[in-house]
Amino acid sequence: MTGSHMVSDISLSTLVRPLEPPDVQAYRDLRLEALAGSPAAFGSSYEEEAPRSLEDFSAHISLSGPDAIFGSFSGNRLTGMAGFAVYGKMKARHKGVMWGVYVQPEWRGRGLGKVLVQRVIDHASRHVIMLEAAVGLTNDSARRTYHKLGFKPYGIERKAIRIGDVFYDEELLCIDFEKTDP
Ligand SMILES: CC(C)(COP(=O)(O)OP(=O)(O)OC[C@H]1O[C@@H](n2cnc3c(N)ncnc32)[C@H](O)[C@@H]1OP(=O)(O)O)[C@@H](O)C(=O)NCCC(=O)NCCS
Repeated sequence: MTGSHMVSDISLSTLVRPLEPPDVQAYRDLRLEALAGSPAAFGSSYEEEAPRSLEDFSAHISLSGPDAIFGSFSGNRLTGMAGFAVYGKMKARHKGVMWGVYVQPEWRGRGLGKVLVQRVIDHASRHVIMLEAAVGLTNDSARRTYHKLGFKPYGIERKAIRIGDVFYDEELLCIDFEKTDP
């Protein structure tokens, strides 16, 4: 299958839109699946989020202002997501962060990750000057996706995540929407 066929396949069968309150159960299920299945990819953990109520998860998607979670849907099924949040402090409101990027294993490798990340970038470019992200140094598919779509590495946080006795380093990335040179 060629790249162009994969893209048209995704665009015909997949809708990407911001999550809304009625999506809360699907969002909770996907978020917990992501935390359980890819623990090293996220700062939060399954153990911390699993006990939270549906109302807590509702608060994530009843977002005010530019904060949003974009979901990819195949029919009614939520297959992937990517979040965007603006920093709250007055002196940091020109910056946002991409968080919670996840595509279900059976949907990977078809361009969905790129579509979701690009959606966050397009949205962020209308609301902030700097978009930040962090990615595991050994997470090749996510790193490749972020680099390809314009994120520039600016540092490495050693031992950013700890799971039991194992530490994971993260690459810190950003897009400066005011910087025009490549
Ligand atoms: C990262 C993730 C979202 C990518 O989703 P996806 O739908 O497979 O992404 P795409 O199909 O758009 O592919 C993105 C790139 O990764 C590459 N890729 C896919 N699987 C890969 C693998 N196992 N190893 C290396 N590269 C891989 C693809 O080839 C593509 O690169 P290309 O454009 O040069 O061909 C998905 O793998 C995922 O959910 N992983 C677990 C959670 C995670 O790591 N989230 C990121 C947290 S920072």
